[in-house]
Amino acid sequence: MYSPLATRYAAPDFYRRCGRSGIKLPLISLGLWHNFGSVDPFENARAIACRAFDLGITCFDLANNYGPPEGSAEETFGRILREDLGRWRDELILTTKAGYHMWPGPYGDWGSRKSLLASLDQSLQRLGLEYVDIFYSHRPDPETPLEETMGALAHAVRSGKALYVGLSNYPPAETARAAALLRELGTPCLLHQPRYSLLDRWVEPQLLATLEAEGIGCTVFSPLAKGLLTDRYFKGIPADSRAGHDPRFLRPADITDAVLARTRKLNEVAESRGQTLAQMALAWVLRHKAVTSALIGASRVSQVEDCVGATRRLHFTAEELTRIEQILAA
Ligand SMILES: NC(=O)c1ccc[n+]([C@@H]2O[C@H](COP(=O)([O-])OP(=O)(O)OC[C@H]3O[C@@H](n4cnc5c(N)ncnc54)[C@H](OP(=O)(O)O)[C@@H]3O)[C@@H](O)[C@H]2O)c1
Repeated sequence: MYSPLATRYAAPDFYRRCGRSGIKLPLISLGLWHNFGSVDPFENARAIACRAFDLGITCFDLANNYGPPEGSAEETFGRILREDLGRWRDELILTTKAGYHMWPGPYGDWGSRKSLLASLDQSLQRLGLEYVDIFYSHRPDPETPLEETMGALAHAVRSGKALYVGLSNYPPAETARAAALLRELGTPCLLHQPRYSLLDRWVEPQLLATLEAEGIGCTVFSPLAKGLLTDRYFKGIPADSRAGHDPRFLRPADITDAVLARTRKLNEVAESRGQTLAQMALAWVLRHKAVTSALIGASRVSQVEDCVGATRRLHFTAEELTRIEQILAA
């Protein structure tokens, strides 16, 4: 029977306040987009989740469509909650999202009230929960009025099925409009979830400035660029890597010589800091005070351990930041 390590909260600096809310999030959160589907070995998924909790990771990120197949990551995590982590429910921030394709027909996708609220009910059932901590609109819907999507998020909170709401993939202007609507509805936006890494800086500077001004937290996804910002591909494409076995979102063709030349140079900077490349990539996104948490994925326990180790050295010297800018600009 699983019993968490008593040392899991030994580092109070591991938690950062989420915008202007009462909630603190761990510097590293764990995402279940990959490696938690019913096609993946359950024991590995369980080991990753439990080790993450042992290391102080309290935030686990899901969405209706994570798997494969769609929905099965929530079922896997539901089983982990039932068998292991559920006894510590009040120590956990559990999130889910709706907005990408989930079921056939006109109501299983995008941001209508019908789609979001039906999806949340399905997620709660798969997870075996009465409520999630954060319910996100997964992406803006160009055809549904923002008022309707935000109204559905606010309803989720009022009905007790979510404690907080969040936005993902919303550009700055829509984020500000959505935040104003949610404030009017009495359910302020807790946090935003955009993609951000050394190789993808679209959030700079506008979105991060908007979030700071609005008092919204920020948890950044794919901070390791799905594995590119690690040593994973330095000696070819391993069969058990994401590009090697599940090329839905990271194809072997994405591992170009140009990317590898850049990440090898970044790795030299990381080594000079006494870090792995993954650790430096995480410290780099966390250097912004607007960034609350770096949301990683992992295919094995040792990766979670390595990533949490990033928080031992978050500071960058001016010389290191300049060298990194030079490498990214080359
Ligand atoms: N809101 C959205 O639209 C959206 C979109 C995408 C993701 N997300 C969320 O963000 C989470 C993270 O996304 P992601 O999985 O792309 O994140 P990521 O952290 O950029 O990439 C994770 C991958 O990097 C490799 N890795 C991780 N730690 C490592 C280490 N220490 N050393 C070497 N390799 C390491 C592993 O690759 P291998 O598998 O090859 O070992 C792992 O699967 C998702 O699970 C999901 O919750 C949200």
